[in-house]
Amino acid sequence: MHIAIVGCGQLSRMLALAGIPLGFSFSFIAEEGEDSRCVEGLGTISHWQPGLAIGDLYQTLGKPDIITVEKEQVDIALVTALQEYCPVYPNPDAFRTCQHRYREKQMLDSLGIPCSPYTYRQSAQRSINALSLPLSLPLSLPVVAKSCSEGYDGKNQWVLKNAQDVAEYDQWANEEDHIIEQWIPFDKEVSQISVRGLNKEIHHYPLTENQHQQGILKQSIAPAIDIPTELVKTAQDTISKIMESLDYVGIMAMECFVVEHNLLVNELAPRVHNSGHWTQSGSHTCQFENHLRAISGTPLGSTGSGGVSGMINLIGTNKPSLDVLSPHSTLHWYNKSVRDGRKLGHINFTDNNYESLHRQMSAFTQTALTP
Ligand SMILES: Nc1ncnc2c1ncn2[C@@H]1O[C@H](COP(=O)(O)OP(=O)(O)O)[C@@H](O)[C@H]1O
Ligand SMILES: [Mg+2]
Repeated sequence: MHIAIVGCGQLSRMLALAGIPLGFSFSFIAEEGEDSRCVEGLGTISHWQPGLAIGDLYQTLGKPDIITVEKEQVDIALVTALQEYCPVYPNPDAFRTCQHRYREKQMLDSLGIPCSPYTYRQSAQRSINALSLPLSLPLSLPVVAKSCSEGYDGKNQWVLKNAQDVAEYDQWANEEDHIIEQWIPFDKEVSQISVRGLNKEIHHYPLTENQHQQGILKQSIAPAIDIPTELVKTAQDTISKIMESLDYVGIMAMECFVVEHNLLVNELAPRVHNSGHWTQSGSHTCQFENHLRAISGTPLGSTGSGGVSGMINLIGTNKPSLDVLSPHSTLHWYNKSVRDGRKLGHINFTDNNYESLHRQMSAFTQTALTP
């Protein structure tokens, strides 16, 4: 089976690396100006820009049997046009909903799923003390302004802590397409990663606990620590409801805030996700393989795991020496050029208890990441 992936980043790379042992072959669509280093050597790279003939693109991709996508901000017109040639999973409607924060929140609201209160298309000034969506609760400082699209790794969002921040933000911001969201003093951040097959079967990975720094994922631990069973069940039921309503096929990630034993959905990712990278070492079937199994109609693999797992992102650092790897850690380096704040690779750790997992992870941080 031949699969084409829209996007040439590390997620495409890891999808291909997981699919090659299954006998799948790959090709990639690079949009204008896209760096394709991550996928070099893994299949044909076809360059695309609006206006080019879709039929020609399909031919140069090697007439794939299925097309999938590694990025949220995909060109909807492109994936919709490609559907004329072969199935595209997840379906373009799922991307249309998830790539825009307001549409995503409206969908959550229509399903009765709690998310942080917000206003849409209103100045920060008018949003403070205003009645917010979806439950008409008043917003109060601090808040966070987020553009509705083009946001990732904390980009295009601004925390407004006081009246001066609010006034400054309103002076330069374009209110046309942003939300102003209540800042949530959460206890933890977690993500639920689940997979839905062509036969509508759903499997859930254990809930993952995530730590972000300046909006960018720094590390994950799975299963998340001290989460009551009911909350795990709520997370699974919630993502199932979302995937069913979108008739979704593939891996989806749901990022959540845990607040006093309640779950608030922060955002959805209609793709394999950074907080699921630990599954490469810690799960019977990793998220990348399960995504490919789902979209190809192959029976899903077990999402079960023995022991505990962790992941540390390598952000803006040179490739660490392999000498720093412990017997239970593995390096995934993405082949990108080193740039400040850029995700360049990650390390996965496995262990049989949290204490020694933490020891392994902090030993790595101290030897490899401390300047
Ligand atoms: N309303 C909020 N309250 C508290 N923290 C937030 C809020 N919104 C975002 N954050 C923090 O910023 C991170 C990135 O925000 P997110 O909405 O997930 O955007 P991105 O698309 O950049 O991942 C979150 O994981 C969280 O740590
Ligand atoms: Mg996020």
